Amino acid sequence: MKMKHFIFLLSLFFILITTFSSSNSTIVSHDERAITINGQRRILISGSIHYPRSTSDMWPDLINKAKDGGLDAIETYVFWNVHEPARRQYDFSGNLDLVRFIKTIHAAGLYSVLRIGPYVCAEWNYGGFPVWLHNMPNMKFRTVNSGFMNEMQNFTTKIVNMMKEENLFSSQGGPIILAQIENEYGNVISSYGAEGKAYIDWCANMANSLDIGVPWLMCQQPHAPAPMIETCNGFYCDQYKPSNPSSPKMWTENWTGWFKNWGGKHPYRTAEDLAYSVARFFQTGGTFQNYYMYHGGTNFGRVAGGPYITTSYDYHAPLDEFGNLNQPKWGHLKQLHTLLKSMEKPLTYGNISTIDLGNSVTATVYATNEGSSCFIGNVNATADALVNFKGKDYNVPAWSVSVLPDCDKEAYNTARVNTQTSIMTQDSREPEKLEWSWRPEFERKTILKGSGDLIAKGLVDQKDVTNDASDYLWYMTRVHLDKKDPLWSRNMTLRVHSNAHVLHAYVNGKYVGNQIVKDNKFDYGFEKKVNHLVHGTNHISLLSVSVGLQNYGAFFETGPTGINGPVKLVGYKGDETIEKDLSAHKWDYKIGLNGFNHKLFSTKSVGHQTHHLKWSTEKLPADRMLTWYKANFKAPLGKDPVIVDFNGLGKGEAWINGQSIGRYWPSFNSSDDGCTEECDYRGEYGSDKCAFMCGKPTQRWYHVPRSFLNETGHNTITLFEEMGGDPTMVNFKTVVIGTVCARAHEHNKVELSCNNRPISAVKFASFGNPSGHCGSFTVGTCEGANDAAKIIAKECVGKPNCSMNVSSHVFGSKLDCGDSPKRLFVEIEC
Ligand code: GAL
Repeated sequence: MKMKHFIFLLSLFFILITTFSSSNSTIVSHDERAITINGQRRILISGSIHYPRSTSDMWPDLINKAKDGGLDAIETYVFWNVHEPARRQYDFSGNLDLVRFIKTIHAAGLYSVLRIGPYVCAEWNYGGFPVWLHNMPNMKFRTVNSGFMNEMQNFTTKIVNMMKEENLFSSQGGPIILAQIENEYGNVISSYGAEGKAYIDWCANMANSLDIGVPWLMCQQPHAPAPMIETCNGFYCDQYKPSNPSSPKMWTENWTGWFKNWGGKHPYRTAEDLAYSVARFFQTGGTFQNYYMYHGGTNFGRVAGGPYITTSYDYHAPLDEFGNLNQPKWGHLKQLHTLLKSMEKPLTYGNISTIDLGNSVTATVYATNEGSSCFIGNVNATADALVNFKGKDYNVPAWSVSVLPDCDKEAYNTARVNTQTSIMTQDSREPEKLEWSWRPEFERKTILKGSGDLIAKGLVDQKDVTNDASDYLWYMTRVHLDKKDPLWSRNMTLRVHSNAHVLHAYVNGKYVGNQIVKDNKFDYGFEKKVNHLVHGTNHISLLSVSVGLQNYGAFFETGPTGINGPVKLVGYKGDETIEKDLSAHKWDYKIGLNGFNHKLFSTKSVGHQTHHLKWSTEKLPADRMLTWYKANFKAPLGKDPVIVDFNGLGKGEAWINGQSIGRYWPSFNSSDDGCTEECDYRGEYGSDKCAFMCGKPTQRWYHVPRSFLNETGHNTITLFEEMGGDPTMVNFKTVVIGTVCARAHEHNKVELSCNNRPISAVKFASFGNPSGHCGSFTVGTCEGANDAAKIIAKECVGKPNCSMNVSSHVFGSKLDCGDSPKRLFVEIEC
């Protein structure tokens, strides 16, 4: 070989070597047992954090707390409607910076799971679909429809290419180990007939053709077309068996709590039950599990779906809405994760055998030559069990799983919680008194006299004309009544058949009333007496308000929105009822409200206002509909999360320094019934079980991300109050740990933490057989001789956290507790 050729080949060789080694590619695949990474079967614990539901400033902390909580991966959906708000116009800025989010996960050393969808459900507006998509001709979502498939492919390809360009797939050395196409299509496929099957096959082919080098998932999709891997979603997936025997048992959504609707209660899923569901899943052969949500966060702006999903998307997740540890959930799961990871080899390679121990108790042994790991699960919802396993007695409480990493010693039981309970509260600083100014939303002359942006004959569907650019659409028409009109009478009725989530009605500039959707009755009749119609021209103005578009169900995109009619005036002549149907009239439409169109919430709009947009500080109105308010305030000092109390307000939207913190509706209370004092973790969880906050506002406090605030100098809050409310009670607070409770058995450690604030006092402590719940602990029949509260105070007060051994040696031995194990209960104040 000539020297020249040799040098050429040598350099080619080096280029190839460096390309491959620098890309540091990881091979992700699967067999029937588990996802494999570089050929090794893995136990993978993942958690959902949706990047637009927090701010980019919050991401590193959230991701680190997830890592510290024992997670291997962070999962997120990709939210099409916010990335492509108008066709082929894209936005990946601020908290929509998906690449930055994935890179932040990578920097923390975690994997990521990218659920592209692009249908996501997720309690997100319209399930993540842009409304312009619906408004394209001959459009049908999620089925064989060339327009839809073309747009779905375009967006999916765009996302995949963005990830590829940044080398973010594991096959390129990045963190993304799995991707998802579609979402729970199996739940609705039958409604689409033969086209449903053809569509899901197309999804699989399309995804596959994108060549991402890591496996694709399809959740809730039995018999997913190869090579898609089907997965389970739900509160429990222990009973789930993939229909394809070569798919591993994977759980993409373990619902850690639930979402809230306006008018709903606070959901609560206990740490015991969540841990039970996880341990049962791994006991029964599961190898990949994702928490939905690990951090739920906030629906800023108008991203909440629904209708009626609240602004808070806390979800009772292990990290609360603001990113604080939700204890004991976070810590109790962390302990379980540590053990499951330590058992990775037996769980993924071991021979599995199950032993029925009677009374719904089963032991599962994962045996390898190097060692074995075991679980003992008691699925009985009421009876505790004392079982003998391999010659040893174990006490397994009802609805719990014991984990025995060496098949001998119980290292963990899902029902025995050793982590502290933290009760969050607001800081006790005197709130700043805000000076409000205000202005009305509309000019009566223009709106109530019916001049809009467009005119149509007949009633239109709200989303069809607004593209969902606003929650608000005015429907305005005129009706001429003369003396001889057969309809004419003093008392008439306005009758509107409506699908508007909220409807406000005006006749001749006078408010006649409203109606809001309650108890999921999205289709209703509004009827009000009107006695101020005149001979001549009458103006009917109806304001239709949307509170988030439907996000779930077959054909959900076709559901009617706005006022679909008929709209009628009804008159009475003796026994006779005469109707005038206005539905086919000429209607004027105005999209959005003046204040929004003039960006009254924007900090930049100040100073550019025309005379009629002036704000006033005189006679601050309360209970005035369609009113704008604004005030300056100082940001609360420190780093603790900031919230704003909207007690006293009705319904509307709020902005901080021009950024929307979401819709608010504190006047919407949940019903009085359905809450219980005691929450029994045992038995199947459902979204209504253990709910709390009955008869209270569904959401009174709203998250103000620190990055929306100027730390020094002034900040502006702007409110658009739709229903009428009193802003004078609005105040800013921080969220801090108020009370901490912990329980620990003798020979264990008690660990207490007030986060970064000092422990200020010990409110209760007893070593012996105390009982009760956090906040109402009581001393039992026996107690250690030493003053437990004094001992703990000496060790802990003044420090942000402390830990102590729980023993008779520390707390005094003169106890008469008989054989029962001694325990310490403690309640501290931060
Ligand atoms: C699932 C869906 C998720 C979310 C969840 C409820 O069915 O896949 O996106 O909507 O329900 O929170």
